[in-house]
Amino acid sequence: MVDISTTIGPLRLKNPTMLASGIMDEDAGSMQRMMDCGAGAIVTKSIGMQPREGYANPTVVELEYGLLNAMGLPNPGIELYGEEVKKLRTSNVPIIGSIYAADADEFVSLAEKMQRFGANALELNVSCPHAKQYGLEVGCDPVLLQEIVTSVKQNVSIPVFIKVSPNIMNLVQIVQGAEKASADAIVAINTVKAMKIDLETRCPVLANKTGGYSGKAIKPIGVRCVYDIAQAVDIPIIGVGGITTGEDAIEYFMAGASAVQIGSAVYYRGPDVFKSVCEEIKTWMKNHGTTTIKELIGAACR
Ligand SMILES: Cc1cc2nc3c(=O)[nH]c(=O)nc-3n(C[C@H](O)[C@H](O)[C@H](O)COP(=O)(O)O)c2cc1C
Repeated sequence: MVDISTTIGPLRLKNPTMLASGIMDEDAGSMQRMMDCGAGAIVTKSIGMQPREGYANPTVVELEYGLLNAMGLPNPGIELYGEEVKKLRTSNVPIIGSIYAADADEFVSLAEKMQRFGANALELNVSCPHAKQYGLEVGCDPVLLQEIVTSVKQNVSIPVFIKVSPNIMNLVQIVQGAEKASADAIVAINTVKAMKIDLETRCPVLANKTGGYSGKAIKPIGVRCVYDIAQAVDIPIIGVGGITTGEDAIEYFMAGASAVQIGSAVYYRGPDVFKSVCEEIKTWMKNHGTTTIKELIGAACR
């Protein structure tokens, strides 16, 4: 019998696939649909203190091997979005509240509210490649990040995950600092900073000029980051970046991930991607005489 349940600290997931932040998580209805399609956990859209419009269109463009986006963190603000989180309270699928802020006080305030609204864990988004002030400025500053994690941990009782960027040089220092500050898990990776130019207009396609690349093309970057992080810390890692099939997920487990998140593949394979990836994981495990996800975690690191 193959068992694909997994754990992230105290959080138990019936399967290792989670919905990644920013995809099909505008409201309770879309998140419920992803649960019904088999997601083992749901990460909310990244939410800030105040409503935020995001950037002008075009904000997303499909390239040969993935999606390029610069949404600009559009969201209705924590108070309005909290009503959506509340509606999912009774679900037995864990809800992970993704939040962004520029400093520790704001992060604490958002974290307390997310917990009160019913989130089962938090994901601190400190890795958006195109959100001035709320992105990489926080995610590559080890002192600021440690202060943020320490403060949030002191003020909430639910697990706290840190979502990191592949765009920084000091990734290992950042995750070790997060672990020291008692973060419960690392989520790797956010999108890869990138650009597309239209040859006819001779201009960048995105209104914001640069954006974040996701989908199949970034999988080797995500796998490398997870592998590097697995050598550096002892807390669980959640892998994300280009996961489209069960075999992609297994590669991330072998690099050191205990669970995976799926974003762009919801677009490429439809919402049933969660069920399909779980079935593909089970088939691979059966064919390879593996009965638990645990046997696979970090297999390539030994
Ligand atoms: C349209 C779009 C919006 C996104 N919005 C967010 C967001 O609000 N917060 C966040 O942490 N990541 C966001 N991401 C990044 C994804 O959560 C994920 O880290 C990234 O897309 C890599 O995974 P994938 O290749 O499976 O899409 C977004 C990605 C896309 C494509």
